[in-house]
Amino acid sequence: MAQAEQYQDLLAKIDSSKMPAHIAIIMDGNGRWASARNLPRTAGHKAGAEALRRTVEICREIELPVLSVYAFSTENWLRPMEEVRFLMRLFIEYLHNEVALMNRQNIRLGFLGDRTGLPDPVRKALAEAQAATAANDKMLLNIAVNYGGRDELVRAIRKISSMIDKDKLSSTDIDEQLVADCLDTSGKPDPDLIIRPSGESRISNFLLWQSAYAELYFTKTLWPDFTKRDLLTALLDYQGRKRRFGKTQEQIAKD
Ligand code: IPE
Ligand code: IPE
Ligand code: MG
Repeated sequence: MAQAEQYQDLLAKIDSSKMPAHIAIIMDGNGRWASARNLPRTAGHKAGAEALRRTVEICREIELPVLSVYAFSTENWLRPMEEVRFLMRLFIEYLHNEVALMNRQNIRLGFLGDRTGLPDPVRKALAEAQAATAANDKMLLNIAVNYGGRDELVRAIRKISSMIDKDKLSSTDIDEQLVADCLDTSGKPDPDLIIRPSGESRISNFLLWQSAYAELYFTKTLWPDFTKRDLLTALLDYQGRKRRFGKTQEQIAKD
């Protein structure tokens, strides 16, 4: 067995007064990880699932309230059919395998995206895993599958329009809170930190509304290589940032 990863030195540096309420991760780089090893892309996705397991463990250990991970975008349907099928099977397998661990660790499973667009077996596995973990309350793990920030906004606009159609709402009642309440993240804090591995510096349609004031952290590490140390390194970087939310530094100092 590989030697357990050491990360106590990084844990000791964390400032518990500056903990994010929500970390979101764009799990990217599986294909490149596999290509570099002359393996099929599917091997990269499997290794990516292991990286997710490690990341969930460390986030639970630091008592993070909400972790959201981007697993499959609305654009990822454009990939070769075989890869899409593999990813859907992997998602079902991950849910089946992780429920026991999630229950031991008191983690509730949440979902971001349009589930009506998912194949039936995926919807079933998701519903079962959500029901099995519904009473857990130490951490929320949101998995984004068939998720697109634009699609989420379109769905929110449809919900609002239908309330207006039914005379339950007037257009002047629409405010930021109502829009936020109609998103998949309704009732949850916005992400404070968004991590993207793999060397790409873009958002790729993830949490467009919610990321308004998120701190972005990009690393060249490919997702399957992402370790607990990498998560803690990103967190420490975040804790060193100055967040102003539009105010001046002087105002922030006085708050
Ligand atoms: C992320 O890894 C997984 C998904 C988007 C489903 P990729 O499969 O995008 O890996 P790269 O970007 O090709 O290396
Ligand atoms: C973003 O990765 C989506 C997920 C990680 C699920 P992509 O690999 O699809 O993003 P692009 O195409 O490089 O922007
Ligand atoms: Mg990619």
